[in-house]
Amino acid sequence: MLAEPFNWHPGMWKMLTVAMCVALLGCLQAQELQGHVSIILLGATGDLAKKYLWQGLFQLYLDEAGRGHSFSFHGAALTAPKQGQELMAKALESLSCPKDMEPSHCAEHKDQFLQLSRYHQLKTAEDYQALNKDIEAQLQPAGLREAGRIFYFSVPPFAYADIARNINSSCRPGPGAWLRVVLEKPFGHDHLSAQQLATELRSFFQEEEMYRVDHYLGKQAVAQILPFRDQNRKALDGLWNRHHVERVEIIMKETVDAEGRTSFYEEYGVIRDVLQNHLTEILTLVAMELPHSVSSVEAVLRHKLRLFQALRGLQRASAVVGQYQAYSEQVRRELQKLDSFHSLTPTFAGVLVHVDNLRWEGVPFILMSGKALDERVGYARILFKNQACCVQSEKHWAAAQSQCLPRQLVFYIGHGDLGSPAVLVSRNLFRPSLPSSWKEVEGPPGLRLFGSPLSSYYAYSPVQERDAYSILLSHIYHGRKDSFITTENLLASWGFWTPLLESLAHTAPRLYPGGAENGHLLDFEFSSGQLFFSQQQPEQLVPGPGSASMPSDFQVLRAKYRESPLVSAWSEELISKLATDIEATAVQAVRHFGQFHLALSGGSSPVALFQQLATAHYGFPWAHTHLWLVDERCVPLSDPESNFQGLQAHLLQHVRVPYLNIHPMPVHLQQRLCAEEDHGAQLYAREISTLVANSSFDLVLLGMGTDGHTASLFPQSPTGLDGEQLVVLTTSPSQPHRRMSLSLPLINRAKKVAVLVMGRMKREITMLVSRVGHDPKKWPISGVLPHSGQLVWYMDYDAFLG
Ligand code: BG6
Repeated sequence: MLAEPFNWHPGMWKMLTVAMCVALLGCLQAQELQGHVSIILLGATGDLAKKYLWQGLFQLYLDEAGRGHSFSFHGAALTAPKQGQELMAKALESLSCPKDMEPSHCAEHKDQFLQLSRYHQLKTAEDYQALNKDIEAQLQPAGLREAGRIFYFSVPPFAYADIARNINSSCRPGPGAWLRVVLEKPFGHDHLSAQQLATELRSFFQEEEMYRVDHYLGKQAVAQILPFRDQNRKALDGLWNRHHVERVEIIMKETVDAEGRTSFYEEYGVIRDVLQNHLTEILTLVAMELPHSVSSVEAVLRHKLRLFQALRGLQRASAVVGQYQAYSEQVRRELQKLDSFHSLTPTFAGVLVHVDNLRWEGVPFILMSGKALDERVGYARILFKNQACCVQSEKHWAAAQSQCLPRQLVFYIGHGDLGSPAVLVSRNLFRPSLPSSWKEVEGPPGLRLFGSPLSSYYAYSPVQERDAYSILLSHIYHGRKDSFITTENLLASWGFWTPLLESLAHTAPRLYPGGAENGHLLDFEFSSGQLFFSQQQPEQLVPGPGSASMPSDFQVLRAKYRESPLVSAWSEELISKLATDIEATAVQAVRHFGQFHLALSGGSSPVALFQQLATAHYGFPWAHTHLWLVDERCVPLSDPESNFQGLQAHLLQHVRVPYLNIHPMPVHLQQRLCAEEDHGAQLYAREISTLVANSSFDLVLLGMGTDGHTASLFPQSPTGLDGEQLVVLTTSPSQPHRRMSLSLPLINRAKKVAVLVMGRMKREITMLVSRVGHDPKKWPISGVLPHSGQLVWYMDYDAFLG
C-alpha cells in the first residue's frame, strides 16, 4: 500500500513515525518475552491432576501457545516409567477444548499438547538430575532461551521436603530464568506444624518463588469480591459496616461424603479442610479494609493481615460440630480400625466469628461447611439490616424501590439452584457495576434464592465460566501472586483456628443421617457470642449416658459455710443467681447513693459471670457503676494475661460504663511494671479513698485459689493481710509473680463480699477451709470477714460436693 502514489502531508509523516516506533517497541518486547517454559507436574497420575490440573495445563497451552513462549510439560510420579506413562496417557485422554472451538482445531491442539508432554519417574536424586538434563537438552538444539520452570506439587505434604530439596539442588533453572513452585494444601495441621513446614520450605525456596494454592481464590465469584467492592465503592461505602450489615454468611455445603478419603479426612476434618482456608480467605476478602488499589498485592496482603489481627479469638462455644452417621464405619473399613472405634472428626461445622474493629463490631460472620448435606452450593451472603417501616401495603412494594423487601448481596460461588457462579444484588440496594466479562442473567422462571425471586436481584454471571485451576495456572504462569497464600497469611489463619481446634479435640460431634434426612438437625442459632444447635440431640442418635446426670429442674441450695450464707447450684444456675444478686445490689446502691462501686477479681471463674452480666441483665445500672479491680498481674494492661483485659473482653466491650468510672490498677507506670518507687499501690488507694465513701465498696467479688489464696494475697506472705495499707504489691508463687492487690483490711470494709468458687479442682480446698479457723497467714481466704458487711459464698456443686 505504501508503494502506491500518495499525497503525504507533514501530519501523516508524524503519525507513521509514531506507529513504526510503537510496532518496533512491540517487536522488542515480544523478543524479550520469548523463551521456553517447562511445567513439571508432580503427582501427574493422581486424582487432582486427573480431575483438574492436566485440563488446566491444556487450557494454559491453548491460551498462551504462540504468544511468545514455547512449552514443554513433564508429568512426574513415583511410578515406574512404563506404567506411569500409561497412567498419564489415560489422564490426558479426556482433555477437552472450549465449546466454541472447532473440532478439527481442537484435535490439532490436543495432538500438539500430547507431543509436548512426557512422563518421568521421580524417585531418587539421580532422577531429578536426569529431569534437569532432559529440560536442558530440549533447549539447546532448538537454541531456545529458558524463561522459567513451574513445579506443581500435587503430592501429599509429607513428600514436600524431599522434593523441594531435590529441586533446589538439581532442578533450578540457570541465571535469568525464574523458578515457581506451586504447593497444594494441606499446609500443616495447626499453627506449629504450619510454621515448621514453612521454615522447611523457606530453606529451599524464596517466598516469591512459592505459590500456595487455595483453589477457592480461583473461583470466579470469589475472585470478583475485591474488584466488585472496588468498582462499587460509591454505593458500598456507606453500607459496608455494622450500622447496615445484619450478618454475613460464608457457606460451602457438599453432598459428597469422605468415603475413599478417610485417611486424609480423619486427620483433618472439616475445619482444617475447608474453614481454615477456603472460608477464611473469603472472610478476609469480604471484611478487610479496601486498599486504594486492589491490584496492589502488597496492600491487599497488608489489609488481610490487619483483618486477622481484628478477629476475636474463638472459643469452644463459638462452634457447633457434626459428623454424618456413616463416617465412623467408613473409617473403620478404610483404615482397618477395631469395631469399637468411634471417630471424633467433625464432617460438619458452623462457627461464629466476630471482627473487633469499628467497621464490624457486633456483626456476626457465620462460617459453615459440611459433607453429606442436602445440596452442593457455596456462597458469601451479606444480609443488610432493614430499618425501614413501610406504610403502603405489600402489594405496592416494587422490587426495585421497596426498602421493606430483604436487601442482600451474594457472591454465589456455584452449583446450587442457580448452577453457575454469580453476583446477586437486591434491586432495592443499588445497580451494581461489573466488568464486561460478566453479563446479566435471568435464570429459570420461578427460581427463588435466599428467600427472594431471582427477578428481585440484579444478577450477573461470567460470560465464560472457567475452572478455578485453569485461572490459577494462568496466574502462576504470568507471575501474578495476588491469588495465592503467603506464609504470613497462612500462619495468621492457623493462629486464628488452632485454639478452637484444640478446644474441640475431645468434643463428640452431633451425628446426622446425611442428605435431605438431616431435616433441621443441624440448624443452629447464635446468641451472646455463642453458637448452639436449635434442636436437642435426639436420643436415638447418641445412645449412652451423659444428659441424664444434669438435673434439668435444678435447685439452688442454700446453706451455711464458715458461718456465712452459702449458695450452691450447678455452675450455670450459680452464675445466673450471682449475676441476679449483683444486679439487685447495684440497683439498690444506685437508688440510695446514686452510684455503685464494684470491685472485681480476675481469673477464669468470673468469665462466665461477666458474660452473663453483659448479655442477660438489661436493667443493670451500668451508667452509675464504678468498676474497680481486686487484683492485677504486673503486666501491661494491654497484655492478654492482665485481669483488666479479661474484664475488657468479656464485660466492658459489651456494656456502656462511662469511661471515667473504669478504674484499672496502675501497674504500669513510667514504662515499668510495679516498681515500688512509682507508688502505684498508693495511687490506687488514694483513688479509692477519693471516690468510694469510707473506702467501703458496695460489693467485692473474690475467688479462692487451690492454695487458699484470695485476691492476690498468698499464703505465707504477710503483705496485705493486716495493717493500714489499702492496696499492696505482693508476690505470687506462679507467674507472673508480681501482683497488685486490695488488702484484707480494705476488702473487709466492703458492704458485701461475694466469694465465687467453681470446679472440681477446688473441692479439696473447699473442704479444708470449711474446717479451719481464722488463719489468714496460712489461708488468706479465712481472713475475709467484713466488719459490718455481709459475706456470701457462691459454690458450684463440683466445688462443694465434688
Ligand atoms: C477441597 C477439600 O479443598 O475442596 C474437599 O479438600 C472439598 O474436601 C473441595 O470437597 C471442594 O471444592 P469444590 O471446588 O468442589 O467446591
